[in-house]
Amino acid sequence: MTWKDNFSIGIPEIDKQHKELCDKIDELYAACSQGKAAAEISKTLDFLASYTVKHFADEERLQQKINYPKFMQHKAKHTDFAKQVAKLKSDLAASGMKTATVISVNNTISSWLVEHIMKEDKQLKDYI
Ligand SMILES: [Fe+2]
Repeated sequence: MTWKDNFSIGIPEIDKQHKELCDKIDELYAACSQGKAAAEISKTLDFLASYTVKHFADEERLQQKINYPKFMQHKAKHTDFAKQVAKLKSDLAASGMKTATVISVNNTISSWLVEHIMKEDKQLKDYI
C-alpha cells in the first residue's frame, strides 16, 4: 500500500508510523506477487500485532492529552483491528496457506488501514 501525501494527518510522529505500516503492507504484496506469501504473511501479522500496540497507544495518549471528544470511539476501532489481526492469525493457523486466506489477509489489513487513516485519523486532524 503506497503512502500518499493526502494520508498525512499533520502529526509527524503519527505520519511516520502510518508510513511504516504502509511499507509493511507493500512488502507483503511484493512477497505475494513473487510467490513468497507463505514466508511473509505470518511475519507481517506478527509485526502488525506488535507494532500497532505502540502505534495505537501513541495515538490514544495524544487524544487523551487534547481531550479528544471521540476518544472512546477511536479506541474501540483500534481494539477491533487488534481482534481482526488475531483472527487472521488463527484463521491462517487453522486453514494453512490457502490463496483465499492470503487474499483475505491482504484485503483486510490494507482496507482497514486506508479507511482508518482517511476517516478516523482525519477527524482527529480536523479537531486539532
Ligand atoms: Fe487511529
